[in-house]
Amino acid sequence: MIIESNIELLGTAAPFSQQIVRQELSQARTSIDEAMAAGPAHRAFIESLPDLWRTDPDVQIFSRLLYLKPGWYPLGPHYHFDWGGQNASDGSPVETIMVLHGEASQTEFILGPLEQSEPSAVEPRGHRRRPGRDQWDSQVAAGLASGSLKQWFLEPNQQIRFDSRTLHRARPAKTAGWRVLIRAIRGLTNQVADPGRFTTCRNGYIPITDEQRTRYAPYQDR
Ligand SMILES: [Fe+2]
Repeated sequence: MIIESNIELLGTAAPFSQQIVRQELSQARTSIDEAMAAGPAHRAFIESLPDLWRTDPDVQIFSRLLYLKPGWYPLGPHYHFDWGGQNASDGSPVETIMVLHGEASQTEFILGPLEQSEPSAVEPRGHRRRPGRDQWDSQVAAGLASGSLKQWFLEPNQQIRFDSRTLHRARPAKTAGWRVLIRAIRGLTNQVADPGRFTTCRNGYIPITDEQRTRYAPYQDR
């Protein structure tokens, strides 16, 4: 099955200073009303959403504030689909509108057709780790080499729309600083019952295997 991995650039939001960004409050899939109290960047983002989204009671705000140093990742750097494998009640893909404030770390998106060989290729929920997750690495490398796929990096203050068929991954920060990535999600209905493990986990990760220690080495104090 061929899926089209794409993003739509909606515009550029007004920038916020680092002093403002660092006071924003991360939202773990809260309602629009609750997230209006999360800070000026959240408020501006919510007010910019389409009317259809602002009046949809199932739209959730999911955001994360981080301080990153050069080389630090905001999360595991694997290609994935947000809410892959889940559909809205009408069967359409789960949609995300997202804005990045702060310069540290720009999410990498892969644009173009992807061959999805089996249903399990899409993670059932969010960012959960699944065997074979790194299968996308070789397909992306081949697509970039042949020109069938392109990379696109989210710039600070850019606001985009994408859905659960859009392949992307976190990239290491190039500069030190605060960044808040704010998302509105439309199409999920399990907000209260099960927000998802990824949504609520923040810190406390202990790398155990050699591969994990290597991946998380940049986080270790020396
Ligand atoms: Fe993601």
